[in-house]
Amino acid sequence: MTAGRSKPLLGSLKPPGDKSISHRALIFGLLAKGVTPIEGLLEGDDVLRTADACRALGAKVERLGEGKWRVEGAGLGSLLAPKEVLDFGNAGTGTRLMMGVVGGHAIKATFDGDASLRKRPMRRILDPLVLMGVDVLSETEGGRCPITIQGTGEPAPIEYRSPVASAQLKSAVLLAGLNSPGRTTVIESEASRDHTEKMLSYFGATVHVEKEGAHGRKITLEGRPTLNAREVIVPADPSSAAFPLVAALLVPGSDVTIIGMMMNPLRIGLLTTLQEMGAQIDVTNPRIEGGEDVADLRVRHSQLKGVDVPADRAPSMIDEYPVLAVAAAFAKGETRMRGLSELRVKESDRLAAVAAGLAANGIEHRIEGDDLIVVGTGHVAGGGTVETHLDHRIAMSFLVMGLASDKPVTIDDAAMIATSFPTFRPALEKLGATFS
Ligand code: S3P
Repeated sequence: MTAGRSKPLLGSLKPPGDKSISHRALIFGLLAKGVTPIEGLLEGDDVLRTADACRALGAKVERLGEGKWRVEGAGLGSLLAPKEVLDFGNAGTGTRLMMGVVGGHAIKATFDGDASLRKRPMRRILDPLVLMGVDVLSETEGGRCPITIQGTGEPAPIEYRSPVASAQLKSAVLLAGLNSPGRTTVIESEASRDHTEKMLSYFGATVHVEKEGAHGRKITLEGRPTLNAREVIVPADPSSAAFPLVAALLVPGSDVTIIGMMMNPLRIGLLTTLQEMGAQIDVTNPRIEGGEDVADLRVRHSQLKGVDVPADRAPSMIDEYPVLAVAAAFAKGETRMRGLSELRVKESDRLAAVAAGLAANGIEHRIEGDDLIVVGTGHVAGGGTVETHLDHRIAMSFLVMGLASDKPVTIDDAAMIATSFPTFRPALEKLGATFS
């Protein structure tokens, strides 16, 4: 797929449902008693794999209409052993959260996925689960999928200090702890997205959240709650909104309104960073939908300037660095993005993939330790072909680059875009983007 220099992007766009909340809505539907109706579910491949896994574990999962789903729960403590391998495709979130769910039940399951997922580290999830009593029956070298675990119906209550700021890790431990007869505590030194904690409370569990140090949190869950089914309304995904948002900033003459974007403070580090870079973004109509802050964002073309992005902001914009690197390429001056070690273990090694994409399109940049430095000159030559390494966010980021660069930008494979933003192409074309 190729993106070419576009006329001004104009109009409004509602991004698809949040991927993190969509996975969790299905999983909580599986664990709750009764019927969980879901509105605005992201119908991307990643989430559909989680829906399949919920079915395999005993839930009745039905699609009623666009984004409208219903999950009839199997109930906490009453999951079925899946008959086949749980194949999560490209989805790290689905895999890791479900490892926690299975780990807290006396069932055996095998987790697997595509070539990207098979490279991702799973030891970080297995380590705390083993402390809780889970048996790892088989794993591929280095703690990679395929992995077979035997869960326990009596998970030991633990206090776990997370070695990485990871919502997936935190969530796996809490989900396993749901079926524990005692209290499960996770301590994180940098707060990661809090959708699991919020949803636990919403479905009726008792969760205490305290501050821990300067930026951290301590989350304590009382085991064996009664989880009662409740309706979940999924807000628009800020990580998907990031692509049309940055595109509107970069394409001259653009004026785009993003409708209903989730404004959870642990998800909007990109917004803060872009505003520091001089982006014209008006946040309007703030409101609460489905228990989350949402707002509309009017975004106008802006000449950006380089900034220094602190490492402690990383958890709140972890998936947005590839598209920030593209914005930085069009900015004037140096942008330093600090503390990006986690980018090496996403759907691809995003640090390497971004660097290669910048190089292919004539952008000066360097990697120093875990920092990425992009030297912007205000315009981008383009003309390169970018390898996406089965990574949807690398694909969309470099297509955004091509909308404003001198020469078109090509990506080798657009298929993975369907994992998180299946309507990316028509939605951006409607605003005026040129793809071929
Ligand atoms: C997610 C957490 C993040 C993020 C991923 C979704 C989640 O991963 O990169 O896309 O839904 O919990 P980590 O928690 O591993 O950083």
